[in-house]
Amino acid sequence: MCGIVGYIGKGDATSVALDCLARLEYRGYDSAGIAVLNSKRLEVRKRPGKIKELIELIRQRPPHGHAAVCHSRWATHGEPSERNAHPHADCTGTLAVVHNGIIENYAELKERLLAEGHRFRSQTDTEIIVHLVEELAKRQPIETAFRLALKQLRGAYAVCLISAKEPHRLFGARNSSPLIVGIGDGEAFFASDVPAILSHTRRVVYLNDEEVVELTAGGPRLMTLDGKPVQRESTTVTWSLESARKGGYPHFMLKEIHEQPLAIEHTLANRLVGDTVRFDRRTTQFLDRLSDDEQLIIIACGTAYHAGLVGEYMLEELARIPVDVDLASEFRYRGSRLGRRTTVIAITQSGETADTLAGVKMAKTQGAKVLAICNVMSSSIAREADAVIYTHAGPEIAVASTKAYTSQLTVLALLTLYLAKKRKQLPAAQAKRFARGLAALPALLERALANEQAVKAVAAKYASARNFYYLGRRHNYPSALEGALKLKEICPLIHAEGYAAGEMKHGPISLIRKGWPVVFLATRSPVYEKIVSNIEEVRARKGECIVIASEGDDHIRCYADRLITVPQTDEFLSPIVTAIPLQLFAYHVAAANGCDIDQPPNLAKSVTVE
Ligand code: F6R
Repeated sequence: MCGIVGYIGKGDATSVALDCLARLEYRGYDSAGIAVLNSKRLEVRKRPGKIKELIELIRQRPPHGHAAVCHSRWATHGEPSERNAHPHADCTGTLAVVHNGIIENYAELKERLLAEGHRFRSQTDTEIIVHLVEELAKRQPIETAFRLALKQLRGAYAVCLISAKEPHRLFGARNSSPLIVGIGDGEAFFASDVPAILSHTRRVVYLNDEEVVELTAGGPRLMTLDGKPVQRESTTVTWSLESARKGGYPHFMLKEIHEQPLAIEHTLANRLVGDTVRFDRRTTQFLDRLSDDEQLIIIACGTAYHAGLVGEYMLEELARIPVDVDLASEFRYRGSRLGRRTTVIAITQSGETADTLAGVKMAKTQGAKVLAICNVMSSSIAREADAVIYTHAGPEIAVASTKAYTSQLTVLALLTLYLAKKRKQLPAAQAKRFARGLAALPALLERALANEQAVKAVAAKYASARNFYYLGRRHNYPSALEGALKLKEICPLIHAEGYAAGEMKHGPISLIRKGWPVVFLATRSPVYEKIVSNIEEVRARKGECIVIASEGDDHIRCYADRLITVPQTDEFLSPIVTAIPLQLFAYHVAAANGCDIDQPPNLAKSVTVE
């Protein structure tokens, strides 16, 4: 969702800021804009559509300066258009802001500001911020005016302010929306996310909620909303610039699919030794303090929620711990009663998803403990949680989550093994087998990827279909949900639904007719025969069965219209392996349909508003 960049320093602000903004394209957006400060005034340029269209506009009349704020907007209040695109300027054109989030009390503030004579040009909630600062700055310095304005806002914001009267300072602040500071050599940055600034610096300062920053080319000065100084060390990010580039692949999604063997190797590294699982000291202490009757609640959104559903099977069956899995957006409003014996496990790639973050905060207010499974270091959820298990998948840029998902599943498997052994729930032989299965994953994923051409051929055959079902049972029921999500996410022409195969007879089967493609997850498991029966039912109605089955399963051949095989693994780990053909299938169907795979319309990588 909305990408923010602020730049001040020795470089050409327009080109540096736009370069950084382009690296946030993956967040999803529908318009873009920039305000550049030259020696005299602010110059604002905006455009609906892609950043390249803004760059084209700028090429005709290039503004030059040493400071800029720019923005890619994912519309919430007001249609995607030039006037609603950020930055928004005050009445005099002296101040401009960019904002990510939603200001919930904007209507009442706007009414007041209109009565005070301010002129509004857009339909956005954001514009009230700049007029509020303008109003307050009539009586106090800009820094105080900015802080006092923020104190009047209700809702989420990451916001940057630029002022023609303050050429050597930018201001920024965050509350429940992501904003980081980058410190370079004679230059400094605001950004929504680390990949934006990786080609300029790896020195980052992470902000907490309700913190304000005065940024000069020399670096940041942090303070609270009340103006009290805040001390914070910078962190050096380990992600490489290369990891945030396409590296010869046509799309980030394909690159990230192929990175999975390495990503899982990183997830496992130093954690799995023989059949022993080790976590860092803080996580180990956290896990060792869980009570015998601890209640586990997994919360997450989208793909991460599907990972949670797989985790439920593992933790309940192998570690014998009761688990509830909830969509974070439901959990936060459910009114559940949590307590000291409740642990909430928040699964999130970005660590910034608004609903998951709100669920984490709610759990903490009720006295529950929070463990995060997260990819992005020092993200909001990672910092809120009592302990974090990082997935170490590296930056995930494509909107469709792939390597983050399989690395989340791998962490859940490690967690299961750790807790199952600690609680003496797993016979030694089974624990060893499970650990061997985990260690073998990178090689198995390589083998699954080697089958890409076969998956591509199946995708080509069904690329013109417009409806798909995905069916699975037990651990591969969440895989069916995930496979369908991948396809509909990146191929907006297609409707795809995932179901528990046993549910088919309770409704969905009524739609099946000649040629309707159904993707079955039919790897070897205790429910294999039941899945075969479900395949029979679809065949009886002349549906087309695309079957994902275990290598060497010759029996299934006669049931499948198209067969895709995956290496055999422990039943509990099979969703990690079956994810590969599901992702590749979605990718190649979308590619055959000419879809915008890395930035599907209307979607955002990191959903930072409710
Ligand atoms: C799907 C996808 C989304 C995310 C969801 C949660 O491919 O990317 O469904 O999984 O928005 O995001 P995180 O994991 O960042 O909390």
